[in-house]
Amino acid sequence: MRLLSVASEVFPLVKTGGLADVAGALPRALSEYGVETRTLLPGYPAVLAALSDAEPALRIGDLFGGSATVLTAAVDGLQTLVIDAPHLYSRPGGIYGWPDDAIRFAALARVAADIGMGALPGFLPDIVHSHDWQTGLTPAYLRYDGRRAPGTVMTVHNLAFQGQFPPNLLGVLGLPASAYTMEGVEYYGEISFLKAGLQLADRITTVSPTYAAEIQSPALGMGMDGLLRHRAAVFSGILNGIDTEVWNPQTDTAIVETFSVDELGGRPANKAGLQEHFDLPVEPSLPLFGIITRLSWQKGVDLITAAVPDLIALGAQLVVLGAGDFDQEVAVGGLRDRYSETVAVRIGYDEALAHLIQAGADAIVVPSRFEPCGLTQLCALRYGAIPVVARTGGLVDTVIDASPVALAAGVATGVQFAAGSVEMVAAALRRTVGLHADRTAWRQMQANAMHTDVSWRDPARRYATLYRGLLR
Ligand code: ADP
Ligand code: GLC
Repeated sequence: MRLLSVASEVFPLVKTGGLADVAGALPRALSEYGVETRTLLPGYPAVLAALSDAEPALRIGDLFGGSATVLTAAVDGLQTLVIDAPHLYSRPGGIYGWPDDAIRFAALARVAADIGMGALPGFLPDIVHSHDWQTGLTPAYLRYDGRRAPGTVMTVHNLAFQGQFPPNLLGVLGLPASAYTMEGVEYYGEISFLKAGLQLADRITTVSPTYAAEIQSPALGMGMDGLLRHRAAVFSGILNGIDTEVWNPQTDTAIVETFSVDELGGRPANKAGLQEHFDLPVEPSLPLFGIITRLSWQKGVDLITAAVPDLIALGAQLVVLGAGDFDQEVAVGGLRDRYSETVAVRIGYDEALAHLIQAGADAIVVPSRFEPCGLTQLCALRYGAIPVVARTGGLVDTVIDASPVALAAGVATGVQFAAGSVEMVAAALRRTVGLHADRTAWRQMQANAMHTDVSWRDPARRYATLYRGLLR
């Protein structure tokens, strides 16, 4: 089976969030199930610079106002197709937030649809799988063109980003007037790329079963719940995995000492290394919490900052690695000066430091207000850092709360708390510190966590089954 996967970011070439991790890791896992994947993405400067053996595979005379070349290149075992279109992607700075984003990402979808219809010599996909709003027009172009119809799958990684644009762009985007209806790309008087994908793809998925249920209700549906309920028969939630080679405490070169579930002896050295790195008192016995996150309202880091006095009362430490919204960076950064004995902060994006935090922290806190899947808690499980997570979305599906019953049955892997309030975060920190003091219970939880299968094996099998159901 041949699959064209389409995404606006793909690890290790370009990443702003978990979408890139998924787009980068899923194809490798799919190959185990007989799915041959090519991954289409925009040729931002960093992407083009990272390609070593790129070959031109397709020339496009006019792609929304300029010529383009689709390059093919292998990157870390990933077969990529990169759109080299300088008028769209050759810009310094961020990959999102340009005034012409509608055109930049419509171009990505347009090329995907053309490849879906056979434009690329030697690669005729059976299935085209698009991720998030940036690629949402792919099923629309395929539907309204109608020359050839590969199966289409649309995955929503975060319903908060929908790609809404003014209706007068319809013609510019190359969509027919007939597309501008409730059954097409129209959404409350605008064009919505995500809605187009959710409406027109053969199958839709999101990244956890709980989030799939949550977004069919008005509370978390962000205006799309009606449509999702309407399409419930073709809508499902498939959990993400993580790349267990990139995230492997037995071989990790970014940490102080490697370790495994049977040989946890390396963990204390990582804890000390982490405390040292952050200039915190090097105290082996103090519970050390870690946070690795984008700083945005979704992630709820403001709830933790409000709970710092509780943390101090508990005699615990906290390290935060995060980047994102300016006001949150300022607020979180300020903690460092006020509570330098307890809280350490690094504002920025740092892949290696994320590994050290996973290896050295006793627990990883994920206080999200909503969370489609979440990857940091999966990395935490793999590294024996106990995940302390808000009870929402994929966090529910991946962490087993240390309830009395779960503890007695010996199956707990973490701590869950009701999402969205400072009091609940504080209570969860207290409960975690209590558990940490019970060395036997804690060891058992670490072992359970590290034995959890967080790999792509099961999710990839589910995607492969989904694709197979669409073969014509
Ligand atoms: P989201 O995609 O919503 O940001 P996920 O949990 O799905 O959340 O994925 C985030 C990914 O990015 C994880 O792999 C996490 O480790 C990583 N990450 C987030 N913030 C940082 C940071 N400041 N430095 C390094 N890695 C980060
Ligand atoms: C989004 C979500 C996150 C999910 C990631 C990958 O960024 O916020 O929960 O893990 O996509 O699917």
